[in-house]
Amino acid sequence: RQRPVIAIDGPAGAGKSTLAAHLARRFDFLNLETGAMYRALALKAIENDLSFDEEAPLLALAEGTTITLEPQLEGNRVLLDGADVSRRVREADVTAAASKVSVHPQVRAWMVRQQRTLGAAGGVVMEGRDIGTAVFPDAEVKIFLDAAPEVRGNRRYRQTFANPSNGNSERTASPALTAEQRQAQEAILRELKERDYRDRHRAQSPLQPATDAVILDSTAMTLDEVLGRAEEIVRSHL
Ligand code: C5P
Repeated sequence: RQRPVIAIDGPAGAGKSTLAAHLARRFDFLNLETGAMYRALALKAIENDLSFDEEAPLLALAEGTTITLEPQLEGNRVLLDGADVSRRVREADVTAAASKVSVHPQVRAWMVRQQRTLGAAGGVVMEGRDIGTAVFPDAEVKIFLDAAPEVRGNRRYRQTFANPSNGNSERTASPALTAEQRQAQEAILRELKERDYRDRHRAQSPLQPATDAVILDSTAMTLDEVLGRAEEIVRSHL
C-alpha cells in the first residue's frame, strides 16, 4: 500500500470514534468505522427476521448485501443496499444485535475481506475490535484505547442524553441524577458490559490488544489529553 494504516481497537464507549475522527482530520486520512458494518448487517437481519444465532443464514444474507461507509468529518455515513441507515444503526436493538451477529467466524471473515479492500491503499484510520489483530496485523500504527467500564458507561450515558456543555468536563462534578436518570445510566452500563463480555470471549478474533499495540487507558484522562497522546503515538510511528 502507498500510505499507512492506523488501527484503533478497544471496547465500547472508550472513545474510539472520536479519536479516529480526530486523527483522520489531523493526518488527512479516511476514517472507517467497522462497527457500523456489523451494525448494518444486524439491521438487515432484524428486517428479515433472521435469528442472530445461526451462522449460515447470516452469511448468506451478508453475501447478498452491499454495505458502504462514507467517511465524513464526524464519523461515517452508513449505506445498507444504498439506503442511508446511519441513525437507525445506532439504536439499542441494532447495537445488541450487532454484538451477537459478530460472533460468527464466517460473518467476520466476510467483513474482514471487505475491510481489507477498503483499506488496501492505506491512508486510513480504521476503528473496531480486531483491526490490529485480524484485519491489518501489519498496520503501521496500532492503538488499543481502553477505559474502566463505569467511565465508558458514563460517557455513553452523556452521549445518549446529549448535553453539549458536558463534552469535555469529565473532571468537574456533575449534578446529582434523578432516580430515572440513574436507572437509564445503569441500563447503559449493563448493556455495555454484556457487549464487552461477548466481544472479549468469542472464539474468533476476540477483543484483545495486538501484542504490538500501544495501550492507551483513558480512564483518568480528558478528551484533549487522549487526543494529544494519540497524536504523539502516531507521529512517532509514521
Ligand atoms: O464499534 P461499535 O460499537 O459500532 O460495534 C458494534 C459491534 O460490532 C460491537 O459490539 C462488536 O461486537 C462488533 N464489532 C466487531 N468487530 C469490529 C467492529 C465491531 O466485532 N471490528
